[in-house]
Amino acid sequence: MPPEHDHLARLRHEYADRGLDEAEAAADPLAQFGLWLAEALDSGMHEPNAMVLSTVSTTGQPSSRMVLLKGFDERGFVFFTNHASRKGVDLAANPACALLFGWHPVERQVRVEAIASALSADEVAAYFRLRPRGAQIGAWASRQSQPVSSREELERTYAAYEEQFAGREVPVPPTWGGYRLRPEVVEFWQGRAGRMHDRLEWTRVDDGWQVVRRQP
Ligand SMILES: Cc1cc2nc3c(=O)[nH]c(=O)nc-3n(C[C@H](O)[C@H](O)[C@H](O)COP(=O)(O)O)c2cc1C
Repeated sequence: MPPEHDHLARLRHEYADRGLDEAEAAADPLAQFGLWLAEALDSGMHEPNAMVLSTVSTTGQPSSRMVLLKGFDERGFVFFTNHASRKGVDLAANPACALLFGWHPVERQVRVEAIASALSADEVAAYFRLRPRGAQIGAWASRQSQPVSSREELERTYAAYEEQFAGREVPVPPTWGGYRLRPEVVEFWQGRAGRMHDRLEWTRVDDGWQVVRRQP
C-alpha cells in the first residue's frame, strides 16, 4: 500500500457489542429490514435510504450507483429513475440485480439480491406528482446517462422545458419510471467485537424464507 494510504491499513474500529440473533430476528427479511431501517433513521445518519444498486450488462459487466429507496413492503424495494439510463437498459435485458445499504454509523450492512420489475404507470405518476417542480422539469431535461456537450447545454434544455410547461402541471416523461426489486436473498450484517461479526442470510424458498448464519 502506498505510504499516503498507510493510515487506512491501520484503521481499526471495535464494533459495539450489539448482536443479531436468530432467536430475536424477524421471520421475514422485509420485517427485519423495517426494524433496521427505523433504527438507521433514529440514529440521525445522513440519508439511510441511500442504497447502492448494482446491475449487469448484456456483456456481463457489472456497474454500481446510488439510488434512493422510496418505499418497501412485502413485495420488495422501490426506487425511481429513467428507464433509458444505463441501469434501466441493464435491467430491461437482465432484471437480476443487487442492493447494498452501507449503514456505517450503526455498524450494519444489508445486502440484497433481487429481481427487478417496472412499476405500473399509476405508481409512477403518483410518485412523480409528489416531486418538487424543479425535479419534475429536471426529469424531462436529462436524458440520463447520455453524453452532453456542456453544462450550458443541459441548462438550456432545462430552461426550454420550464418554458414549455409554464403555468401547467408537468407530465411524467415517457422514459421516467421506477422499479420494484423482489428480494431473493437478504443478508444482515452486524459488526461485533474481535471481527466476530453476525451475518444472517435469508433465502427465499417455496413456502417462505430459510435463514442461514454465515461466518464473518
Ligand atoms: C445519494 C444519491 C442518491 C441518488 N438517487 C438516485 C435515484 O433515486 N434515482 C436515480 O436515477 N439516480 C439517483 N442518483 C444518481 C445515480 O447514482 C446515477 O448517477 C444516475 O442514476 C445515473 O446512473 P446510470 O448512468 O448508471 O444509470 C443518486 C445519487 C446519489 C449520490
